[in-house]
Amino acid sequence: MSPQSPSAAGLSTPHESAHLHVSGEATYIDDIPEVAGTVHAALGTSERAHARILSMDLQAVRDSAGVIAVLTAADIPGENDCGPIIHDDPVLADGLVQFIGQPVFAVFAETYEQARRAARKATIDYEELPAILTAEEAHRQQSYVVPPMRLARGNAQATITDAPHSLRGKMDVGGQEHFYLEGQISYVLPTEDNGFRVHCSTQHPTEMQTLLCKLLKLRSHQVVVEMRRMGGGFGGKESQSALFCCVAALGASKLKRPVKLRLDRDDDMMISGKRHGFHYDYAVGYDDNGRILAASIELISQAGFSADLSQPVATRAVCHFDNAYYLDEVDIQAFCGKTNTQSNTAFRGFGGPQGAIAIEYIIDNIARDLGKEPLDVRKANFYGTQDRNTTPYGQVVVDNVIHELVDELETSSEYASRRKACQAFNTTSPVLKKGLALTPLKFGISFNVVHFNQAGALVHVYTDGSVLVNHGGTEMGQGLNTKVAQVVAGELGISISNVRSTAVDTSKVANTSATAASTGTDLNGKAAEDAARKIRTRLADFIVSVHGGQSDEVVFANDCVRINDTEIPFTQLVLEAYLNRVQLWSDGFYATPDLHWDKDTMTGRPFYYFAYGASVSEVLVDTLTGEWKLLRADLLHDVGNPINPAIDIGQIEGAFIQGMGWLTSEELRWNDKGKLTTHAPSTYKIPASNDCPDHFTTRLFDNKNVEKTVLRSKAVGEPPLLLPFSVFFAIRDAIASLADYRVNPPLNAPATPEAILDAIEATQVQARENGMSPTGSA
Ligand code: MTE
Ligand code: HPA
Ligand code: MOS
Repeated sequence: MSPQSPSAAGLSTPHESAHLHVSGEATYIDDIPEVAGTVHAALGTSERAHARILSMDLQAVRDSAGVIAVLTAADIPGENDCGPIIHDDPVLADGLVQFIGQPVFAVFAETYEQARRAARKATIDYEELPAILTAEEAHRQQSYVVPPMRLARGNAQATITDAPHSLRGKMDVGGQEHFYLEGQISYVLPTEDNGFRVHCSTQHPTEMQTLLCKLLKLRSHQVVVEMRRMGGGFGGKESQSALFCCVAALGASKLKRPVKLRLDRDDDMMISGKRHGFHYDYAVGYDDNGRILAASIELISQAGFSADLSQPVATRAVCHFDNAYYLDEVDIQAFCGKTNTQSNTAFRGFGGPQGAIAIEYIIDNIARDLGKEPLDVRKANFYGTQDRNTTPYGQVVVDNVIHELVDELETSSEYASRRKACQAFNTTSPVLKKGLALTPLKFGISFNVVHFNQAGALVHVYTDGSVLVNHGGTEMGQGLNTKVAQVVAGELGISISNVRSTAVDTSKVANTSATAASTGTDLNGKAAEDAARKIRTRLADFIVSVHGGQSDEVVFANDCVRINDTEIPFTQLVLEAYLNRVQLWSDGFYATPDLHWDKDTMTGRPFYYFAYGASVSEVLVDTLTGEWKLLRADLLHDVGNPINPAIDIGQIEGAFIQGMGWLTSEELRWNDKGKLTTHAPSTYKIPASNDCPDHFTTRLFDNKNVEKTVLRSKAVGEPPLLLPFSVFFAIRDAIASLADYRVNPPLNAPATPEAILDAIEATQVQARENGMSPTGSA
C-alpha cells in the first residue's frame, strides 16, 4: 500500500478539545449532570501522624444535618486496600493511622456542604506512636516501604579513593504537589443487576475497575469505568484516584444511590501523595579534565506511609542517575524511606528528574572544584556514540544525539558570549548577580515494568465516512486524543475533521495500562494505527475487487481512495463497502518490542529508546533578598518526527515551567507534628504566567526516532520536565559569582529566596575560610 497521506499527521492541528476548553464547555466529572438522588461524600481524616485509634465516636457526624450514612473500614465487604503494587494502602484506616490527613471514615449526605460539615464532627481518641517525618530519619532507622535496591558496575568505592580528585557531599531536593486544576473526583452510579458505572478523573481506568471489584467483591464485567478527560493528572491520578473512587463506590453499593466524591483543594493536598522528595549522599572520583571515573550515591526518597509506586519511581531514579553521561564505575543504592506523611506517587518524570539532578549537581561541583567551565565538564562526560555508550544498567545507547543537540543550542543561544557578558556584569554589579547554565537531558521511554507496555484500540468507520476512535489512553490535556486521531486520519487518508475521539471506556477496550511513562501516544497511537490499517486493507481489497489493480497500489489521500485511474471519495467507498458487507470497524493492539528487565540485578533493556534535550537559562539574583528572575530561556528538545509540533511545543514549555516551580518556588513543609502546613495556593506557590521569561524560545530538534515508533515520533510528556535544571544551576552560578566561581554553593531545591540566602551566606563563609574576600553583603 502507498505511504499514507501527510495531510493529518505532522500538522499542528488544534487540540481536539481546545474550543471546548476555552469556552468552558468541556465536560469534566463535576460537569456531568447529576442523576436525581445523587449523594455527596466527604472524608473524615486523621489528626495524628502515627497513632492507634482507641475509640471513634461518630454519633455527632450521623446526627449532622442531611447525613444519610457514615461508613468505616468495618463496612467494606471485600479487601480494604487501594495499593497499586503492595497491599499496604487502606481505603479507610482500620485502627491504625499513619499520617495527618489519612481518611478514617466517609460521610454521605444530601449535599456537598452537609457532607463536609459533618465530617468535622467526629471525636476520635488516639494513642500516639512515634512518627518518622523525613527520608533521612527513615533511612537512619532503616524504615522502608520496599527493600533497598542497588545497581553496581566495577569497584566504584576503590576507584574514587584512588582517583586524582574526589568529592563527597549531600544534597536535598523537595517534593511537589501535582496541583492539577481539576482535583480528585469520582461519580459512581449503581446500574441494574448489581453493576456500576464509574466516572473517575483517572489516568488508569482499568486499575479503578480492578480495585473497586476487590473492595466490593465484584467481577470486572460488573463495572464500567468511563473517563472522557482530566483537568490534569501529572501522575497524581495514576494510582491515587483509587481511594476516592473506592469510597464513592462503597457508598453507592451500600446506599443503592449514585455517589459523588469531590475533594476540596485543601483536602486533596492533605490526603493525596506528591512527587517524592529525595536526599542524596554522594562521592565521585574524576580526572584533571573533570571526567568522572567512578560515582557512588545513596538515593533516599520520602515514600510516605505506604509503597504506592515508590519502588518503580526509585528504579527510574536509579536508571536516570546517569542522565546524558557515561559513568564507567558506579554504585547506586536507592532507599524508599517509610515516613508518616502522605504516600508519595508518580509525578511527571517519575523519579527520572530526581535521579538526573544528582549527577548534574555533582558535575557542577566538579567544574568549580577544577575551575573549569561547567559546560566543558558536561561535554567531557557525555555518552559516546561508538564507545562509552553502555548505561550502568547495561542498555547500549544507540540513538545518542546529545552532542549535536547541545552544539546547536550552544550556538543558537549564544551561550559563550552571554557567559562572558554575565561574568562582566557581575564584576560591576555588587548586589544583583547574573547566572547562566546549560543542562542536557536524556530520558528513557517505556514503563519500567515490561508488561505495562501494551495497548488496545477500537476504530469504527460509519457509513457516512465519519470515524470514531476509542483507545485505552486517557486525555489529561497532553493532546493524546488529538495525536491518535491524526494517526488514524493519516492512515485512512482523510482529514482530521472526520475523526472523533471518545471517552476511555473499560467496556470497549479492556485491560488498559495507565496513561503514564509518556507512552500514551507510542502505545495507543500504534494500537489505533493497527486498527485503522486493518480497515484500510479491507477497503483496498474491496476497491480492487471492483475496479481491478493491486491492493498495495491503492492510495488513500485527500479524502479519496485511488486505484489506477479510478478515484472515489472515501465516504462513497465506505458506503459501497458496507453494502457489500465489508467490516468497517476493527480492533488494534500493540506491544512494545525488545524490552526486558531483571529487577534483582537492575540490568536489561528497560527502555525502547531515549529522548534528548537541552536548555540554557539566564537568571538575575538579588543577593540581598534572595529574589530572582528568569531573564531568558532557550529550549531545544528532541521529539523525533513530531506528530503535532504545536502540541509538542506546548508540552515542552509546560514541563519547563512546571519543573521550574518544583526546583524553585514550590515548597512542601510539614510541622513537627507531621502536619502539612502548605496545603493551599496561599502557602504553596506554583509558577504563574508572569514567571515565564520575556525571552522564551522553544525549538524541536530535527531528528527521527531510530526505532519504529508511530510515525517515528518520540514521547514528549515527561522528558522536558528535566529542562529547567538549567534554571536551578543558573541560580547556583549567580551565587557562585560571589566567590569568583571557586566555591560550590550548598544550594538545595527548592531554591526559594530563603534557600538562596542560606546558600549565599554559606558561600561567603566558605570563601573567607579559603582566604578569599567574597563580594556581596554578609
Ligand atoms: N500534560 C498536561 N497538559 N496534563 C497532564 O496531566 N501529564 C504528564 C504529561 N503531560 C500531563 C501532561 C505526564 S506525568 C505524563 S506521563 C504524560 O503527559 C502522559 O501522557 P502521554 O503519555 O500521552 O504523553
Ligand atoms: N512510569 C509511570 N508509571 C509507571 C512506571 C513508569 O516508568 N513504571 C511503572 N509504573
Ligand atoms: Mo506520568 S508521572 O508517568 O503519569
